[in-house]
Amino acid sequence: EKDGFDHYMLKEIYEQPRAYRETLQNRIDHENNKVDLSKEISLTPEEIRSLDKIHIVACGTAYHAGLVGKYVIENLVRVPVEVDVASEYRYRNPIITDKTLVMVISQSGETADTLAALREAQKRDAKVLAITNVNGSSVARDADEVLLTHAGPEIAVASTKAYTSQLIAIYLLGLYLAQIRGTQEDTVIANYLQAIKELPAQADKLLEFAPTMKQFAERYAHYEDLFFIGRSLDYAVSLEGSLKLKEISYVHSEAYPAGELKHGTLALITDGVPVIALATQEDIYDKMVSNIKEVKARDAYVLGIGLEGDQELAKSVDEVIAIPKTLPLLTPALSVIPLQLLAYYAALARGNDVDKPRNLAKSVTVE
Ligand code: F6R
Repeated sequence: EKDGFDHYMLKEIYEQPRAYRETLQNRIDHENNKVDLSKEISLTPEEIRSLDKIHIVACGTAYHAGLVGKYVIENLVRVPVEVDVASEYRYRNPIITDKTLVMVISQSGETADTLAALREAQKRDAKVLAITNVNGSSVARDADEVLLTHAGPEIAVASTKAYTSQLIAIYLLGLYLAQIRGTQEDTVIANYLQAIKELPAQADKLLEFAPTMKQFAERYAHYEDLFFIGRSLDYAVSLEGSLKLKEISYVHSEAYPAGELKHGTLALITDGVPVIALATQEDIYDKMVSNIKEVKARDAYVLGIGLEGDQELAKSVDEVIAIPKTLPLLTPALSVIPLQLLAYYAALARGNDVDKPRNLAKSVTVE
Protein backbone atom coordinates (compact mmCIF):
# COMPACT_ATOMS: atom_id res chain seq x y z
CA GLU A 1 0.00 0.00 0.00
CA LYS A 2 2.89 2.31 0.64
CA ASP A 3 4.03 1.86 -2.95
CA GLY A 4 7.57 1.14 -1.90
CA PHE A 5 7.84 4.15 0.44
CA ASP A 6 8.87 3.53 4.04
CA HIS A 7 6.01 5.61 5.39
CA TYR A 8 2.66 6.92 4.32
CA MET A 9 3.83 10.44 5.02
CA LEU A 10 6.63 10.24 2.49
CA LYS A 11 4.34 8.61 -0.04
CA GLU A 12 1.82 11.39 0.44
CA ILE A 13 4.48 14.09 0.10
CA TYR A 14 5.41 12.53 -3.24
CA GLU A 15 1.78 12.31 -4.30
CA GLN A 16 1.41 16.08 -4.21
CA PRO A 17 1.98 16.78 -7.90
CA ARG A 18 -0.78 14.31 -8.70
CA ALA A 19 -3.06 15.74 -6.01
CA TYR A 20 -2.61 19.22 -7.57
CA ARG A 21 -3.52 17.90 -11.00
CA GLU A 22 -6.59 16.11 -9.74
CA THR A 23 -7.79 19.08 -7.73
CA LEU A 24 -7.46 21.25 -10.85
CA GLN A 25 -9.15 18.80 -13.14
CA ASN A 26 -12.45 19.82 -14.77
CA ARG A 27 -12.35 23.19 -13.08
CA ILE A 28 -10.53 25.22 -15.70
CA ASP A 29 -12.09 26.34 -18.95
CA HIS A 30 -8.88 26.20 -20.94
CA GLU A 31 -10.36 27.75 -24.04
CA ASN A 32 -11.49 30.92 -22.32
CA ASN A 33 -8.86 31.02 -19.60
CA LYS A 34 -11.43 31.01 -16.83
CA VAL A 35 -12.08 29.05 -13.68
CA ASP A 36 -15.40 27.28 -13.82
CA LEU A 37 -16.85 26.14 -10.52
CA SER A 38 -20.44 26.73 -11.56
CA LYS A 39 -21.18 23.01 -11.66
CA GLU A 40 -20.12 22.62 -8.05
CA ILE A 41 -20.96 25.88 -6.37
CA SER A 42 -24.52 27.09 -6.49
CA LEU A 43 -23.96 30.60 -5.13
CA THR A 44 -25.44 32.92 -7.75
CA PRO A 45 -23.41 35.80 -9.22
CA GLU A 46 -25.71 38.17 -7.28
CA GLU A 47 -24.98 36.36 -4.04
CA ILE A 48 -21.25 36.40 -4.77
CA ARG A 49 -21.35 40.10 -5.58
CA SER A 50 -23.26 40.89 -2.40
CA LEU A 51 -20.69 39.33 -0.03
CA ASP A 52 -19.06 41.91 2.18
CA LYS A 53 -16.76 39.68 4.18
CA ILE A 54 -15.41 36.17 4.40
CA HIS A 55 -14.57 34.20 7.52
CA ILE A 56 -12.29 31.20 7.17
CA VAL A 57 -12.54 28.70 9.99
CA ALA A 58 -10.51 25.52 10.51
CA CYS A 59 -8.11 23.67 12.82
CA GLY A 60 -4.41 22.84 12.67
CA THR A 61 -2.96 22.47 9.23
CA ALA A 62 -6.27 23.39 7.58
CA TYR A 63 -6.17 26.64 9.59
CA HIS A 64 -2.73 27.31 8.11
CA ALA A 65 -4.18 26.82 4.64
CA GLY A 66 -6.80 29.38 5.68
CA LEU A 67 -4.07 31.89 6.55
CA VAL A 68 -2.77 31.59 3.00
CA GLY A 69 -6.38 31.93 1.87
CA LYS A 70 -6.66 35.33 3.50
CA TYR A 71 -3.80 36.69 1.39
CA VAL A 72 -5.09 35.05 -1.75
CA ILE A 73 -8.69 36.17 -1.44
CA GLU A 74 -8.00 39.66 -0.16
CA ASN A 75 -5.54 40.22 -2.99
CA LEU A 76 -7.61 38.76 -5.78
CA VAL A 77 -11.13 39.61 -4.63
CA ARG A 78 -10.58 42.65 -2.40
CA VAL A 79 -13.05 41.40 0.21
CA PRO A 80 -11.96 41.46 3.86
CA VAL A 81 -11.12 38.01 5.20
CA GLU A 82 -10.77 36.93 8.81
CA VAL A 83 -9.24 33.60 9.71
CA ASP A 84 -10.03 31.82 12.95
CA VAL A 85 -9.23 28.59 14.68
CA ALA A 86 -12.58 26.79 14.91
CA SER A 87 -12.44 26.26 18.67
CA GLU A 88 -12.02 30.02 19.12
CA TYR A 89 -14.44 31.16 16.46
CA ARG A 90 -17.43 29.32 17.77
CA TYR A 91 -17.13 30.95 21.19
CA ARG A 92 -16.22 34.48 20.20
CA ASN A 93 -19.65 35.68 19.14
CA PRO A 94 -18.47 36.51 15.60
CA ILE A 95 -20.22 39.21 13.61
CA ILE A 96 -22.02 37.33 10.87
CA THR A 97 -24.73 38.55 8.51
CA ASP A 98 -26.38 37.15 5.42
CA LYS A 99 -23.61 38.91 3.45
CA THR A 100 -20.91 36.88 5.19
CA LEU A 101 -19.47 33.81 3.53
CA VAL A 102 -18.06 31.39 6.06
CA MET A 103 -15.50 29.01 4.59
CA VAL A 104 -14.63 25.96 6.61
CA ILE A 105 -11.61 23.89 5.65
CA SER A 106 -11.24 20.29 6.79
CA GLN A 107 -9.38 17.37 5.29
CA SER A 108 -11.46 14.74 7.11
CA GLY A 109 -14.69 16.68 7.27
CA GLU A 110 -15.19 15.23 10.74
CA THR A 111 -13.34 17.64 13.01
CA ALA A 112 -15.72 18.39 15.87
CA ASP A 113 -14.84 22.05 16.37
CA THR A 114 -14.95 22.81 12.66
CA LEU A 115 -18.34 21.15 12.37
CA ALA A 116 -19.65 23.08 15.38
CA ALA A 117 -18.37 26.35 13.90
CA LEU A 118 -20.13 25.54 10.63
CA ARG A 119 -23.42 25.00 12.47
CA GLU A 120 -22.98 28.16 14.51
CA ALA A 121 -22.44 30.17 11.32
CA GLN A 122 -25.52 28.68 9.67
CA LYS A 123 -27.61 29.51 12.73
CA ARG A 124 -26.59 33.13 12.18
CA ASP A 125 -27.65 33.13 8.53
CA ALA A 126 -24.25 32.88 6.90
CA LYS A 127 -23.77 30.73 3.83
CA VAL A 128 -21.16 28.09 4.52
CA LEU A 129 -18.77 26.84 1.89
CA ALA A 130 -16.68 23.81 2.82
CA ILE A 131 -13.35 22.80 1.35
CA THR A 132 -12.93 19.16 2.28
CA ASN A 133 -11.20 16.04 1.05
CA VAL A 134 -13.95 13.62 1.99
CA ASN A 135 -17.13 13.54 -0.01
CA GLY A 136 -20.04 12.52 2.21
CA SER A 137 -18.26 13.60 5.42
CA SER A 138 -20.24 15.46 8.09
CA VAL A 139 -18.83 18.79 6.97
CA ALA A 140 -19.61 18.04 3.31
CA ARG A 141 -23.18 17.06 4.19
CA ASP A 142 -23.96 20.04 6.37
CA ALA A 143 -22.32 22.81 4.34
CA ASP A 144 -24.35 24.81 1.82
CA GLU A 145 -21.57 24.61 -0.75
CA VAL A 146 -18.79 22.06 -1.12
CA LEU A 147 -15.54 22.37 -3.00
CA LEU A 148 -13.74 19.04 -2.84
CA THR A 149 -10.00 18.63 -2.79
CA HIS A 150 -8.96 15.54 -4.67
CA ALA A 151 -5.88 14.63 -2.67
CA GLY A 152 -6.96 11.00 -2.32
CA PRO A 153 -7.03 9.30 1.09
CA GLU A 154 -4.52 10.74 3.54
CA ILE A 155 -3.35 8.08 5.98
CA ALA A 156 -0.38 9.66 7.77
CA VAL A 157 -1.43 11.69 10.79
CA ALA A 158 0.71 14.61 9.63
CA SER A 159 -1.17 16.32 6.85
CA THR A 160 0.79 17.10 3.68
CA LYS A 161 -1.01 16.59 0.38
CA ALA A 162 -4.31 17.63 1.97
CA TYR A 163 -2.81 21.02 2.88
CA THR A 164 -1.39 21.72 -0.55
CA SER A 165 -4.61 20.55 -2.24
CA GLN A 166 -6.49 22.97 0.00
CA LEU A 167 -4.23 25.72 -1.34
CA ILE A 168 -5.06 24.72 -4.91
CA ALA A 169 -8.79 24.80 -4.11
CA ILE A 170 -8.36 28.24 -2.52
CA TYR A 171 -6.56 29.56 -5.62
CA LEU A 172 -9.39 28.32 -7.83
CA LEU A 173 -12.03 29.77 -5.56
CA GLY A 174 -10.23 33.11 -5.29
CA LEU A 175 -9.98 33.39 -9.07
CA TYR A 176 -13.60 32.35 -9.51
CA LEU A 177 -14.83 35.00 -7.08
CA ALA A 178 -12.56 37.58 -8.74
CA GLN A 179 -14.00 36.74 -12.16
CA ILE A 180 -17.56 37.19 -10.97
CA ARG A 181 -16.88 40.36 -9.01
CA GLY A 182 -14.73 41.73 -11.83
CA THR A 183 -11.81 42.55 -9.56
CA GLN A 184 -9.09 41.23 -11.89
CA GLU A 185 -8.44 41.78 -15.58
CA ASP A 186 -8.86 38.78 -17.85
CA THR A 187 -5.15 38.80 -18.58
CA VAL A 188 -4.36 38.57 -14.88
CA ILE A 189 -6.69 35.59 -14.49
CA ALA A 190 -5.07 33.98 -17.54
CA ASN A 191 -1.62 34.53 -16.03
CA TYR A 192 -2.65 32.87 -12.81
CA LEU A 193 -4.11 29.91 -14.63
CA GLN A 194 -0.96 29.51 -16.67
CA ALA A 195 1.15 29.58 -13.49
CA ILE A 196 -1.19 27.22 -11.62
CA LYS A 197 -0.93 24.67 -14.39
CA GLU A 198 2.84 24.67 -13.95
CA LEU A 199 2.67 23.97 -10.21
CA PRO A 200 2.50 20.15 -10.43
CA ALA A 201 5.70 19.90 -12.48
CA GLN A 202 7.39 22.48 -10.25
CA ALA A 203 6.36 20.53 -7.13
CA ASP A 204 7.81 17.43 -8.70
CA LYS A 205 11.12 19.19 -9.16
CA LEU A 206 11.18 20.24 -5.51
CA LEU A 207 11.07 16.64 -4.38
CA GLU A 208 14.65 16.44 -5.60
CA PHE A 209 15.62 18.39 -2.49
CA ALA A 210 14.85 15.35 -0.33
CA PRO A 211 18.55 14.45 0.17
CA THR A 212 19.41 18.06 1.13
CA MET A 213 16.59 18.20 3.66
CA LYS A 214 17.58 14.79 5.00
CA GLN A 215 21.11 15.97 5.56
CA PHE A 216 19.96 19.15 7.27
CA ALA A 217 17.46 17.21 9.41
CA GLU A 218 20.07 14.70 10.52
CA ARG A 219 22.41 17.47 11.51
CA TYR A 220 19.84 19.45 13.50
CA ALA A 221 17.29 16.91 14.74
CA HIS A 222 18.97 16.74 18.14
CA TYR A 223 18.60 20.48 18.75
CA GLU A 224 16.14 21.65 21.40
CA ASP A 225 14.70 24.51 19.41
CA LEU A 226 14.41 25.61 15.86
CA PHE A 227 12.95 28.76 14.36
CA PHE A 228 11.07 29.46 11.17
CA ILE A 229 10.91 33.05 10.02
CA GLY A 230 9.17 34.74 7.13
CA ARG A 231 6.99 37.66 6.15
CA SER A 232 3.48 37.70 4.71
CA LEU A 233 2.81 34.41 2.88
CA ASP A 234 6.18 33.11 3.96
CA TYR A 235 5.07 33.58 7.55
CA ALA A 236 1.89 31.58 6.91
CA VAL A 237 4.01 28.77 5.43
CA SER A 238 6.44 29.03 8.37
CA LEU A 239 3.59 28.26 10.75
CA GLU A 240 2.81 25.10 8.84
CA GLY A 241 6.49 24.06 8.70
CA SER A 242 6.78 24.57 12.44
CA LEU A 243 3.62 22.59 13.22
CA LYS A 244 4.78 19.71 11.02
CA LEU A 245 8.16 19.59 12.75
CA LYS A 246 6.69 19.66 16.28
CA GLU A 247 4.04 17.15 15.43
CA ILE A 248 6.24 14.32 14.27
CA SER A 249 9.82 15.07 15.33
CA TYR A 250 8.88 16.51 18.77
CA VAL A 251 11.53 19.18 18.30
CA HIS A 252 10.25 22.43 19.72
CA SER A 253 10.00 25.10 17.11
CA GLU A 254 8.43 28.46 16.64
CA ALA A 255 7.35 30.31 13.56
CA TYR A 256 7.82 34.02 13.71
CA PRO A 257 6.92 36.94 11.48
CA ALA A 258 10.44 38.09 10.72
CA GLY A 259 9.69 41.72 11.47
CA GLU A 260 8.61 40.80 15.01
CA LEU A 261 11.88 39.11 15.92
CA LYS A 262 13.37 42.19 17.46
CA HIS A 263 10.37 42.53 19.76
CA GLY A 264 11.42 39.60 21.89
CA THR A 265 12.35 36.38 20.16
CA LEU A 266 15.77 37.55 19.09
CA ALA A 267 16.83 36.85 22.69
CA LEU A 268 16.62 33.14 21.88
CA ILE A 269 18.76 33.30 18.76
CA THR A 270 22.26 32.37 19.87
CA ASP A 271 25.29 30.60 18.49
CA GLY A 272 24.35 27.72 16.19
CA VAL A 273 20.56 27.88 16.66
CA PRO A 274 19.00 26.61 13.45
CA VAL A 275 16.77 29.09 11.63
CA ILE A 276 14.80 28.35 8.49
CA ALA A 277 14.27 31.65 6.71
CA LEU A 278 11.75 31.89 3.90
CA ALA A 279 12.38 34.70 1.45
CA THR A 280 10.16 34.05 -1.54
CA GLN A 281 8.05 37.20 -1.49
CA GLU A 282 9.56 39.84 -3.74
CA ASP A 283 7.64 42.82 -2.36
CA ILE A 284 9.20 42.46 1.09
CA TYR A 285 12.40 40.73 0.05
CA ASP A 286 14.82 43.46 1.18
CA LYS A 287 13.20 43.67 4.60
CA MET A 288 13.42 39.90 4.91
CA VAL A 289 17.11 39.88 4.05
CA SER A 290 17.79 42.46 6.72
CA ASN A 291 15.97 40.24 9.24
CA ILE A 292 18.13 37.32 8.12
CA LYS A 293 21.21 39.46 8.75
CA GLU A 294 19.94 40.12 12.28
CA VAL A 295 19.87 36.40 13.07
CA LYS A 296 23.19 35.78 11.31
CA ALA A 297 24.73 38.51 13.44
CA ARG A 298 23.81 36.33 16.45
CA ASP A 299 25.53 33.37 14.80
CA ALA A 300 22.43 31.38 13.97
CA TYR A 301 22.77 28.65 11.33
CA VAL A 302 20.43 29.75 8.56
CA LEU A 303 18.81 27.64 5.87
CA GLY A 304 17.30 30.05 3.36
CA ILE A 305 14.35 29.20 1.16
CA GLY A 306 14.39 31.56 -1.79
CA LEU A 307 13.47 31.72 -5.44
CA GLU A 308 15.44 30.24 -8.29
CA GLY A 309 17.65 32.89 -9.83
CA ASP A 310 18.11 34.77 -6.54
CA GLN A 311 21.88 35.35 -6.31
CA GLU A 312 21.62 37.55 -3.24
CA LEU A 313 20.17 35.20 -0.65
CA ALA A 314 23.12 32.80 -0.71
CA LYS A 315 25.35 35.62 0.52
CA SER A 316 23.35 36.05 3.73
CA VAL A 317 22.61 32.43 4.68
CA ASP A 318 24.51 29.19 5.23
CA GLU A 319 22.54 27.01 2.80
CA VAL A 320 19.89 27.73 0.20
CA ILE A 321 16.95 25.85 -1.24
CA ALA A 322 15.72 27.45 -4.47
CA ILE A 323 12.01 27.28 -5.19
CA PRO A 324 10.99 27.34 -8.87
CA LYS A 325 9.63 30.72 -9.83
CA THR A 326 5.89 31.25 -9.83
CA LEU A 327 3.53 34.11 -8.98
CA PRO A 328 3.97 35.34 -5.39
CA LEU A 329 0.52 34.18 -4.21
CA LEU A 330 1.25 30.67 -5.48
CA THR A 331 4.63 30.11 -3.80
CA PRO A 332 3.17 28.47 -0.66
CA ALA A 333 2.19 25.44 -2.76
CA LEU A 334 5.91 24.99 -3.44
CA SER A 335 7.79 26.43 -0.48
CA VAL A 336 6.04 24.15 2.03
CA ILE A 337 7.40 21.00 0.37
CA PRO A 338 10.99 21.25 1.69
CA LEU A 339 9.54 21.95 5.14
CA GLN A 340 7.45 18.78 4.99
CA LEU A 341 10.57 16.85 4.01
CA LEU A 342 12.49 18.43 6.87
CA ALA A 343 9.86 17.32 9.41
CA TYR A 344 9.79 13.83 7.95
CA TYR A 345 13.54 13.32 8.05
CA ALA A 346 13.87 14.91 11.50
CA ALA A 347 11.28 12.47 12.87
CA LEU A 348 13.09 9.61 11.19
CA ALA A 349 16.46 10.73 12.57
CA ARG A 350 14.97 10.73 16.06
CA GLY A 351 13.53 7.25 15.64
CA ASN A 352 9.89 8.33 15.93
CA ASP A 353 6.84 6.63 14.53
CA VAL A 354 6.41 9.00 11.60
CA ASP A 355 2.91 7.99 10.56
CA LYS A 356 1.48 7.77 14.07
CA PRO A 357 3.04 10.43 16.26
CA ARG A 358 2.42 10.30 20.00
CA ASN A 359 -0.77 11.81 21.43
CA LEU A 360 -2.34 12.55 18.06
CA ALA A 361 -5.27 11.13 16.11
CA LYS A 362 -5.88 11.54 12.41
CA SER A 363 -9.28 12.98 12.91
CA VAL A 364 -10.23 14.88 16.05
CA THR A 365 -13.88 14.15 16.70
CA VAL A 366 -13.85 15.38 20.30
CA GLU A 367 -14.03 19.05 21.20
C1 F6R B 1 -1.54 18.40 11.23
C2 F6R B 1 -2.87 17.86 11.23
C3 F6R B 1 -3.95 18.49 12.05
C4 F6R B 1 -5.22 18.64 11.21
C5 F6R B 1 -6.37 19.17 12.05
C6 F6R B 1 -7.62 19.43 11.23
O1 F6R B 1 -0.69 17.71 10.39
O2 F6R B 1 -3.13 16.89 10.54
O3 F6R B 1 -3.52 19.73 12.52
O4 F6R B 1 -4.94 19.49 10.14
O5 F6R B 1 -6.66 18.28 13.08
O6 F6R B 1 -8.06 18.25 10.61
P1 F6R B 1 -9.10 18.30 9.43
O7 F6R B 1 -8.48 19.01 8.30
O8 F6R B 1 -9.42 16.87 9.14
O9 F6R B 1 -10.30 19.06 9.95
